[in-house]
Amino acid sequence: MITLEHISKVYEGAHRVEALKDISLTIEKGQIYGIIGQSGAGKSTLIRCINMLEAPTSGSVIVDGTDLTKLSANELRKARKNIGMIFQHFNLLSSRTVYDNVAFPLEIQGMRKAEIKERITPILDIVGLSDRVNNYPSQLSGGQKQRVGIARALASNPKVLLCDEATSALDPQTTQSILKLLKDINERMGLTIVLITHEMQVIREICDRVAVIEGGMILEEGSTVDVFTNPKKPTTKDFVGSVVSDNLPQEALEHFELHQDWIAGTAPLVRLKFTGQATDEPVVAGLVRRFDLDVSILFGGIDYIQNTSVGRLIVILNGDSMKAKEGLDYIRTLPIESEVIGYVRASR
Ligand SMILES: Nc1ncnc2c1ncn2[C@@H]1O[C@H](COP(=O)(O)OP(=O)(O)O)[C@@H](O)[C@H]1O
Ligand SMILES: [Mg+2]
Repeated sequence: MITLEHISKVYEGAHRVEALKDISLTIEKGQIYGIIGQSGAGKSTLIRCINMLEAPTSGSVIVDGTDLTKLSANELRKARKNIGMIFQHFNLLSSRTVYDNVAFPLEIQGMRKAEIKERITPILDIVGLSDRVNNYPSQLSGGQKQRVGIARALASNPKVLLCDEATSALDPQTTQSILKLLKDINERMGLTIVLITHEMQVIREICDRVAVIEGGMILEEGSTVDVFTNPKKPTTKDFVGSVVSDNLPQEALEHFELHQDWIAGTAPLVRLKFTGQATDEPVVAGLVRRFDLDVSILFGGIDYIQNTSVGRLIVILNGDSMKAKEGLDYIRTLPIESEVIGYVRASR
């Protein structure tokens, strides 16, 4: 649905800023695609290139088969009807009611009043604002204002919806309800959604795929589940760590000495990660039964990322050291990730 090919963007001026450096990515029809990065990474510049609010310095922007960088101003205006956008600060007209804000883009297009009404009445219903049509933005909560923004973006029947930090001004609960609405619209209308954010929570909640951007470059890209379970770059690990932490709480090790080497009297401390189906593997039971090990669980948790369960366990394999070695070998044959953190012995 969207292909960016070798996009770069330089802001000329007193300070020359290279905001985007050779960005290429593909977003399939019907996907919810997340782009995450710290402030200043180039996210807004990138998303504004998709509807040519910002013209890239070089590269192509292909949306629904058309290279937008090759269009005349008039052709571009038409192509943009396919691309709706919502913003962090909603950008509503304060002197217009909810209804008139949503009707605005259609009025500009010269659509007749009756037709506008027919078009936007069901949209106001979908976003849950049917009883607010005569309110002014100042009478609405942040979440309701963003619903107006979404309705206004949907009024032109777009194929793509661009969301620039659409939930960053909202509290966590309202964020949830807006993300749920976006997911609902995506499923109901088959709308392709591109969403930029600095919050990994948002990515985990609704995105099918994610790109991590830093310094105007894509660091890492992949399915949300893959990026969450196997982040490669330090920045990505930080983002993932902000929502799924598998760091052992300090207190959990209070009663142990931790060694780097497997010295006499110590037992392996192992981190295990299970994804999807593998979560059902009776790993702990297997270790106990087959190797007669006494497995103590120091930490455990399950996260759900895009309907895939990701389980994390930190265990100590107590028992005969030969058996513990066999236990480790056994773990390595299983379709799960494992890592020996160190070797522990109870301290007195
Ligand atoms: N209109 C502009 N003129 C000059 N520099 C800009 C402009 N817009 C953004 N920048 C610069 O480009 C870089 C990327 O900005 P931006 O795309 O807004 O990042 P993000 O949305 O990830 O915070 C920053 O260094 C920013 O200062
Ligand atoms: Mg921004």
